[in-house]
Amino acid sequence: MDIPTNISGTESVKAAAPKIWTLNYMKLLLDAAIFFGFWIAYNAHATGRTIHEWFGMAFAAALLVHLVIGWRWVVNIAMRLFEKLPNMTRLGFLLNAALLIDFGMITYTGLAMSHAVLPALGLTGTAGREMRHTHELYSNLAIALVLAHVALHWKWIVGVVRRRIDVVK
Ligand code: HEM
Ligand code: HEM
Repeated sequence: MDIPTNISGTESVKAAAPKIWTLNYMKLLLDAAIFFGFWIAYNAHATGRTIHEWFGMAFAAALLVHLVIGWRWVVNIAMRLFEKLPNMTRLGFLLNAALLIDFGMITYTGLAMSHAVLPALGLTGTAGREMRHTHELYSNLAIALVLAHVALHWKWIVGVVRRRIDVVK
């Protein structure tokens, strides 16, 4: 007999399991999109300045969605940060905090020298092109942080891809 898993008791474990994989698959699609989005944003000269600015803002919005999806994990670990935790979990938390600060700085420095996004909002940036180096520095740091972040989730990524291949077969 199937074990009820939801409050009303109408959903079974059998029915719920594929739903979890579908959700994981959707998460993986978003993760892949932000991974390639980062690559496009990093190649600012290929897209040109205006597209780069708007694309950067869209990318920041996608990151926000990514963070909201992982928020329960963040709160859960934050509350247990000073208790006994696996080292990798603690490292993952610190890395996520570093990512948040780094991408916050990329967006801030980008907006400060913006010639398209800020004027469209009726505002003027405070910085000139001298901010480019700082913007670029944080962007370069992001490469290392993103690669480490993806490496920490590598097993999860492979698991979801394998499961997807099995379902499609
Ligand atoms: C190119 C950028 C990024 C990529 C490719 C990426 C990829 C991933 C992957 C594959 C996962 C595991 C599955 C999932 O929960 O979706 C994940 C989880 C997570 N990411 Fe990212 N991520 C990126 C940027 C960021 C940034 C900037 C932050 C912080 C603001 C962040 C915070 C989180 C959190 C809180 C989780 C869930 C908790 C965890 O397992 O670490 N990610 N990310
Ligand atoms: C993940 C997001 C982003 C990444 C990885 C990124 C990366 C870069 C890189 C590598 C450059 C070239 C620096 C150089 O001139 O050598 C650049 C330039 C620039 N970025 Fe971003 N950027 C991002 C988001 C943004 C955002 C959100 C804005 C503003 C709304 C912005 C505004 C600019 C501006 C104005 C330039 C200077 C372009 C020029 O002078 O030709 N960026 N960015």
